[in-house]
Amino acid sequence: MAMSQQSIHGQWSSRWTFILAATGAAVGLGNIWKFPYLTGVHGGSAFVLVYIVCVAALGIPLMMAEILIGRRGRYTPVNTMKILAEESGAGPWWQSVGWLGTLAGMLILSYYSVIGGWTLAYVFKSATGAFRGVTGASAHTMFEAFVGNPWAILFWHTVFMIMTMMVVAKGVQGGIEKAVQFLMPALFVLLLLLLGYATTTGFFFDGLAFLFTPDVSRLSGTSMLTAMGQAFFSLSIGMGTIMIYGSYVPKGTSIAGTSIAIAGCDTAVALIAGMAIFPIVFANGMEPGAGPSLIFETLPVAFGHMTGGLIFGFLFFVLLLIAAWTSSISLIEPAVTLCIERYDMTRASASLWCGISTWALGIGTVVSFNVWADRTVFGMTFFDLLDFLTSNLMLPVGGILIASFAGWVMAPETSRSELDIRHPLGYTLWHLLIRYVAPFAVTLVLLHALGLL
Ligand code: PFF
Repeated sequence: MAMSQQSIHGQWSSRWTFILAATGAAVGLGNIWKFPYLTGVHGGSAFVLVYIVCVAALGIPLMMAEILIGRRGRYTPVNTMKILAEESGAGPWWQSVGWLGTLAGMLILSYYSVIGGWTLAYVFKSATGAFRGVTGASAHTMFEAFVGNPWAILFWHTVFMIMTMMVVAKGVQGGIEKAVQFLMPALFVLLLLLLGYATTTGFFFDGLAFLFTPDVSRLSGTSMLTAMGQAFFSLSIGMGTIMIYGSYVPKGTSIAGTSIAIAGCDTAVALIAGMAIFPIVFANGMEPGAGPSLIFETLPVAFGHMTGGLIFGFLFFVLLLIAAWTSSISLIEPAVTLCIERYDMTRASASLWCGISTWALGIGTVVSFNVWADRTVFGMTFFDLLDFLTSNLMLPVGGILIASFAGWVMAPETSRSELDIRHPLGYTLWHLLIRYVAPFAVTLVLLHALGLL
């Protein structure tokens, strides 16, 4: 079947815009909020090592598979999977990969927007000098008082969601492209500035040692699954986001080169964030394993005491807000394009309805930090459960299915011609990783962590 040359939803104006947009989707709260806190909770360097191995051996080949599937199909993941399955003579049930990913995107965005809202609130707190002179105890009290008030975090969640939907409603070229073109470079500059500060704390090498001195003894099945889930989450793979961004890629773009560039930038940002945050944590005698509150409790103390802390703190939270915003845009894109293709909606009304339903689900996360804080299922709050369900189950399962589809269902001639890798061994290596390593390794880690193996 002849595939269309361009998606009905638009096309990136160049390869560079695609790299910026996909890096914008990849780099987000996952790199700056979640990576450091998970690294802290799971003991540091061993977690980092598994994370890096997962990015290189599973993440890059999977990202290539998603881009190639998206570019060949040119539709929303549900329809793309259906069309490509037909093309390969496989059953229509492969479209469930698209449904799973689209659902995962909305579930993730429902809580992502709440944390994005905290970030927005902290931009204002930092700008008004709220961190001046705070101690560990008072920063903790400030954070607890903030998240303890459901109305306050509901308000910021709402503002963040409106920001997201405003960009999404404008579409690929009008919205996403314009937004990332100036937001992404600004993000890099701000991050380097923060790293520069970290080198002056006197604890820079303690931070490095924590991140990079190997200590495999601290690695459990759960932390391996978490590191793998975090690699998927951080690269935005396993759920169709990259597939849909891939569907806007012009023909002739090198998929391998682009994937390596995106994964490289994403990993660099996470590591730089870690290298910037942990020295500040150690210099102020704080707890690296504080959990989701890590940056919201420890950084204000650091910023409250350092010279120029008002401006550094403000810049940091602006940086985090930008990163969260560009990622949240991509989380909802599969759902929005699905409504346009399947239910014939306009982009504006699709954005509105997807936005409202995701916002409503987010109320569950809002209350799980206060009125529902004691309500748990399997020992997890609503927020913990959503995070576990999406990062540790849905994304890895999506990854297994996408890898199996690209490695076993798609004809090798098709993937070879789409990838068009120049190096003679390049395609063979990719095919090996996507056919054998990715599906089996992800299944093993998943079963082991769930106690089924
Ligand atoms: N990769 C984003 C982050 O690290 O914050 C989160 C994310 C965005 C996950 C888009 C999945 C996705 F499809």
